[in-house]
Amino acid sequence: MNISVIGSGYVGLVTGACFAALNNNVICIDNNEEKINKLNDLIIPISEPGLEDLVKTNYKEKRLKFTKDTPEGIKDSEVVFICVDTPTKEGKPDLSAVKNVAKDIGKSLNSYKLIVEKSTVPVGTGEIVEEIIKQFPKNAEFDIASNPEFLREGSAIKDFMYPDRIVLGTPNPRATAILTELYRPLNANFIITGVKEAELIKHASNSFLALKISYANDIAEVCEKKGADVKTVLSGVGADKRIGKEFLNPGIGYGGSCFPKDVAAFIHIQEDCGVDPSILKAAQSRNNYQRQYFVEKTEKALGNLEGKVLGVLGLSFKPNTDDMRSAPSIDIINQLQSKKALIKAYDPQAMENANKILNNVQYCKDPYEVAESADALLLLTEWKEFESLDLQRIKDSLKNPIVLDGRNIYDPQRMSTVGFKYYGMGRK
Ligand code: UGA
Repeated sequence: MNISVIGSGYVGLVTGACFAALNNNVICIDNNEEKINKLNDLIIPISEPGLEDLVKTNYKEKRLKFTKDTPEGIKDSEVVFICVDTPTKEGKPDLSAVKNVAKDIGKSLNSYKLIVEKSTVPVGTGEIVEEIIKQFPKNAEFDIASNPEFLREGSAIKDFMYPDRIVLGTPNPRATAILTELYRPLNANFIITGVKEAELIKHASNSFLALKISYANDIAEVCEKKGADVKTVLSGVGADKRIGKEFLNPGIGYGGSCFPKDVAAFIHIQEDCGVDPSILKAAQSRNNYQRQYFVEKTEKALGNLEGKVLGVLGLSFKPNTDDMRSAPSIDIINQLQSKKALIKAYDPQAMENANKILNNVQYCKDPYEVAESADALLLLTEWKEFESLDLQRIKDSLKNPIVLDGRNIYDPQRMSTVGFKYYGMGRK
C-alpha cells in the first residue's frame, strides 16, 4: 500500500519505518527541513533500539522516503497518517499542528484518501479535521479515522510489531477494510470502534496507567510509614487478574512526553464537558509531590544538603532512551540544587540532552566516577547496567555509604549486607 506519514518525530518515524518493513511504500513528511535533510542522509534524530537499522534498510530498498513537501508526499498515497505533536498549552490540548496538517491535506487532496489520526488527540478532533478539509474545493473523497498508538519509548518497534491490540476507529466499512488490510501482517487483536471511541481509548488508557503509578506511590508511602515492604504488597495486589502487575512500580513518579501531557489534557476534557476531574487531579498532584518527597527523603538521610556532593545515576525519564522530556530527574536535581547540593551525574544516553536543560552538573564517564567521594548515591533511572554494578567498589568510593534508590532496583537485604544505608521507595 502507498502510505504517507505526516510528522517525522518519534511516533511518525517509528510508524513509517515499521510500515515500510511490512512491505508498504512509505513517505515520511515533516515541515522541518533540517530534520528531513538529516533523515535523507540517514542521520536518525532519536535514539530508539532497532530504529536506525530499520530506517537504513528500508530507505536503501526504496520503501521509505523523506520529504518536506506535503502535496508531493501525499499525492500517490491512499492512507495518510497524522503523527504531529499535540502538546498542551496552559493545560489545554493545542491542536494547531493537527489543524495545519488538515489544511495542507485539504489544499492538495487529489484522490481518495483515508486520513488517520495517530497522534493523541482530544475526543472530537476527527470532526474538526473533517470540517477543515471540507472548507477546500472538493477534488476527491476522503474519510477520517483514528488509530491511536500505544508505543512505549525504548520498546517502540517491538510494541508496533507485537501489539496487545490495534484500535481502529473508523467511520465506515471502506475505511475499516483499508486499515485491517494494512495491519493484517501483524496478526493482532483488532478493536474496531467509532472515531470518537478510539480517540477516547487513548486518553483513557494513558490516564489509567498514570493513575496506577500514582496509586502505587501512595501505597509505597503507607508501607514506609508502617514498616511494610511495598514490593511484597503490590505483588499481592497485582496478582489479582482484575488489577494486573504492570505499571504498579512505585518510584519517583512518571515523566516523559506522554503521561504528564495526556493527564493534563484529559483533565481539561473532563472539565470542559462538566465531569468532575478530581480522580485524575489527585494522580497528577501525587506525581508532582513524588519528586519533592524523594528530595525530602534525601534530606532526612543526609541532614542539611548545603555543600553535599550527590552522585546521580540515571537522568532520562525511563531506561533505553535519551529522552529528558518531563524527566523526574529535572525537578529532583533542581530542588536539590536549590538546597545548595552539588550534583555529579551519569546516564548511558541522556547526558547530552540533560546538559541542555540542567545547569552546574558535573557529568561523569561511569557510575564509579559518580560515586567517587560523593556523600550519597541517588538512583533516578533504572538502566539495566546499574543492576550489576560492583557494589563493594561503589561503597568503597563513596564518602558515606548512603544509597537512595528511586526505582527500587536493589535488594534492601543485599545492600545492607554490603554495608550501605539503603533507602528504597516503600521498602522495609
Ligand atoms: C506511554 C505508554 O506506556 C504508551 O502505551 C503510549 O503509547 C505512550 O505513552 C504515548 O502516549 O505515546 P512512554 O511514555 O514511552 O509510553 O513510557 P512508559 O513506559 O509508559 O513510562 C512512562 C513513565 O512512567 C516513565 O517515567 C516510567 O518511569 C514511569 N513508570 C512506569 C513508573 O513510574 N512506574 C511504572 O510502574 C511504570
